[in-house]
Amino acid sequence: MLIAGNWKMYKGAHEARRFAAQIRHLGERTPGVDVVVCPPFASLQATLEGLGEGSAIRVYAQNVHWELEGAYTGEVSPSMLLELGVEGAIVGHSERRQYFGETDEWVRRRAEGALEAGLSVIACVGESEEEREAGETYAVLERQVASLPRHERLVIAYEPVWAIGTGKTATPEIAQDAHAFIKTLHPSAVLYGGSVKPENAAVLLAQPDVDGALVGGASLEQHSFEAICAAAVEAAAAA
Ligand code: 13P
Repeated sequence: MLIAGNWKMYKGAHEARRFAAQIRHLGERTPGVDVVVCPPFASLQATLEGLGEGSAIRVYAQNVHWELEGAYTGEVSPSMLLELGVEGAIVGHSERRQYFGETDEWVRRRAEGALEAGLSVIACVGESEEEREAGETYAVLERQVASLPRHERLVIAYEPVWAIGTGKTATPEIAQDAHAFIKTLHPSAVLYGGSVKPENAAVLLAQPDVDGALVGGASLEQHSFEAICAAAVEAAAAA
């Protein structure tokens, strides 16, 4: 079971350091559950410092380039992340796909470059509301998942775009159905993401093919993030 907090474009260095220091012991209280936080690039160093030596919480970036260096203005390489102590990266988040033109091909290259360099990867897939309504959910997932490499350090996050930041959570049945479908295509564990909160975490994480969560808004606040991690501990114990 993995619970990852995606801070998106929240928490500058000062706030990230303070928050990290508050949650630094959380990973010791979560048997069976790995805890990851994904700060913005500019706050990675401060987060690592706030967590300090020996914290069981791991730090991932929210994106990563595939080359180790080069003329790629605005990008950050896998080796730069590793040098800081960052252990992984999200790739293909729907906000990158929607607002920054991220393609399946780029997502594949980012994932492959990161894995080759030694990072872990959370690769995001998920259909939009229009695609779901048009009955295209499986076709979209099939196309997106087909671009992902198979690797022991890669996990998939199923994030239906219509459930992100909208307060609309996929029902546990919808999540389970999509996760089971993804697992027919790819051997990785599958996290659920989209309006995960303390109130719905237990029922989502109890689904047999839900292997954890990628949490946005509710990961920004200590009590809600800790409550979701506690629900994951229960779900891991019951599995
Ligand atoms: P919310 O939990 O805020 O809906 O965000 C989900 C998400 O996009 C995590 O990557």
